Amino acid sequence: MSLIHTYQFNPQLFWIRDLSSLFSDFLRYALLSVLVVALVQMAFFRSVSALSRLRSRVGQQSNLSNSVRWLQTQTSTHTDLYSELKELVPEYQERVKKLKKEHGSVELGKITVDMVLGGMRGMTALVWLGSAVDPDEGIRFRGMSIPECQKKLPGAFPGGEPLPEAVLWLLLTGKIPNKAQVDSLAQELRSRATIPDYAYKAIDALPVSAHPMTQFTTGVMALQVQSEFQKAYEGGIHKSRYWEPTYEDTMNLIARLPAVAAYIYRRKYKDGKIISLDHSLDYGANYAHMLGFDDPEMLEFMRLYISIHSDHEGGNVSSHTAHLVASPLSDPYLAFAAALNGLAGPLHGLANQEVLRWIRSIVAEFGTPNISTEQLTDYINKTLSSGQVVPGYGHGVLRQTDPRYTCQREFALKHLPNDPYFQLVSKIKEVVPPILTKLGKVKNPWPNVDAHSGVLLNYYGLTEENYYTVLFGVSRSIGVGPQLIWDRALGMPLERPKSVTLEKLEQLCAK
Ligand SMILES: CC(C)(COP(=O)(O)OP(=O)(O)OC[C@H]1O[C@@H](n2cnc3c(N)ncnc32)[C@H](O)[C@@H]1OP(=O)(O)O)[C@@H](O)C(=O)NCCC(=O)NCCS
Ligand SMILES: *[C@@H]1O[C@H](CO)[C@@H](O)[C@H](O)[C@H]1NC(C)=O
Ligand SMILES: *[C@@H]1O[C@H](CO)[C@@H](O)[C@H](O)[C@H]1NC(C)=O
Ligand SMILES: *[C@@H]1O[C@H](CO)[C@@H](O)[C@H](O)[C@H]1NC(C)=O
Ligand SMILES: *[C@@H]1O[C@H](CO)[C@@H](O)[C@H](O)[C@H]1NC(C)=O
Repeated sequence: MSLIHTYQFNPQLFWIRDLSSLFSDFLRYALLSVLVVALVQMAFFRSVSALSRLRSRVGQQSNLSNSVRWLQTQTSTHTDLYSELKELVPEYQERVKKLKKEHGSVELGKITVDMVLGGMRGMTALVWLGSAVDPDEGIRFRGMSIPECQKKLPGAFPGGEPLPEAVLWLLLTGKIPNKAQVDSLAQELRSRATIPDYAYKAIDALPVSAHPMTQFTTGVMALQVQSEFQKAYEGGIHKSRYWEPTYEDTMNLIARLPAVAAYIYRRKYKDGKIISLDHSLDYGANYAHMLGFDDPEMLEFMRLYISIHSDHEGGNVSSHTAHLVASPLSDPYLAFAAALNGLAGPLHGLANQEVLRWIRSIVAEFGTPNISTEQLTDYINKTLSSGQVVPGYGHGVLRQTDPRYTCQREFALKHLPNDPYFQLVSKIKEVVPPILTKLGKVKNPWPNVDAHSGVLLNYYGLTEENYYTVLFGVSRSIGVGPQLIWDRALGMPLERPKSVTLEKLEQLCAK
């Protein structure tokens, strides 16, 4: 950041001052040069003090959200992501140091028995740089809502959906990249996308019938063999440089996931006919291409899909898992494989598979997607009375319709308004919330991201719903990866919360 740069000029300026006073005692003609030096010096000081005034104004604000906001509005200056990041690291380290030193004992809230027994809901206990979820507004990526991202982040063409590369740049640096920067990142990712043969062989060792997520995690674990972090750690790397091989691992992992994921799809559903990477395509389009889809609308949907599924703040099962597993310095491959296993749970990532399955079961029951409100109400009642949840509805944090649902709905309205499955999804959105509300215990009766993705994928021909969580997993790397890099850059320690026994909890309550 330029402010930091200017700061570092300070000692140099004092050196110039000493030098100038020395000269002034000597020859008369030196007076001229002293004058010049003094003028330059004044200009320097003025700009330094203007910038440092600005900086201290930002720093002084006890309202940290404002300074964060201020940093966010910046656009990126470096052409490559690594240089951009390298410049930011000292500044972020400084911010964390300041927080620890000056505000270490500030209280952030109470811990209640409900929280301890309730999956730590609402307990502020983690730092996550990339995104935050507002209960009503939903996700913001580095402060930017989805509509803002759609407006400000470069797409594949003017007005296109945000490119996942742009989201990666934003999540990692907090800055908005331009098209040239995003294109160079796309190129970098393609150049990193070489898969060792044994990764495919490891997957091949599993039966084709294995769930795609099991095959995916196996592939990721095989990629771990090439971990740069592990190598550097064994080589005795200084801890101040941990983030550098973590960056390498994360970028390699992100770059390699689509090819591994597409391999699983082709192996399982397309007789093993593999399609290789296209060096002219961006990340999202390439993934679609390797899966076997080349319809420009599907490529565009994949860009949107990956972008909106990338991140959902830090307490999320997959994000928290990655952060936790990385905390004893497990490398990004190990951490991400663990995150994928969390994502494979039916209440988390697997929900998108469940949604399409549930919608299909409705269509099978009535023989058509064109059903009446009464028929749908009946079916929902049946789902609930058999002790199942309505998939795609509810959320751990959100209390309104998920903006990720809304943007997919807008995409569908634009591209497939007459699709009968889309119309059924729209009807479900009218009928489910009042029923869930009536149950009286559901905190959020509104649709989440998973309620919509399946019908869009289905429309474009990706009909194998068991595969959907793998798409989700690839997308998660864009959100989880950047935090793993920051975890190491900021020296985040081993995670170790305190637990209590049930007896102890009862004792504490008896008091
Ligand atoms: C997402 C989810 C796991 C959040 O869980 P949560 O934070 O515990 O949600 P709540 O606090 O609202 O849950 C309170 C009660 O409402 C129920 N509930 C929540 N969402 C429900 C749904 N969609 N259908 C039926 N019941 C639901 C819960 O099962 C719980 O019931 P219980 O007390 O009998 O166990 C939950 O809403 C769910 O299971 N949704 C369906 C699966 C899904 O779409 N997952 C994707 C998440 S992105
Ligand atoms: C902090 O900033 C937010 C947003 O600008 C504002 O709503 C809030 O009142 C501010 N709080 C303080 C303590 O200044
Ligand atoms: C967890 O993160 C995923 C991925 O971004 C998101 O779709 C899901 O809504 C999140 N769930 C919670 C409870 O935060
Ligand atoms: C759906 O069903 C209704 C009532 O049976 C009918 O009027 C309508 O034309 C149908 N719509 C389509 C698209 O088939
Ligand atoms: C479905 O359940 C709701 C609430 O439990 C009830 O009010 C409604 O009558 C039921 N509808 C049908 C068609 O059974």
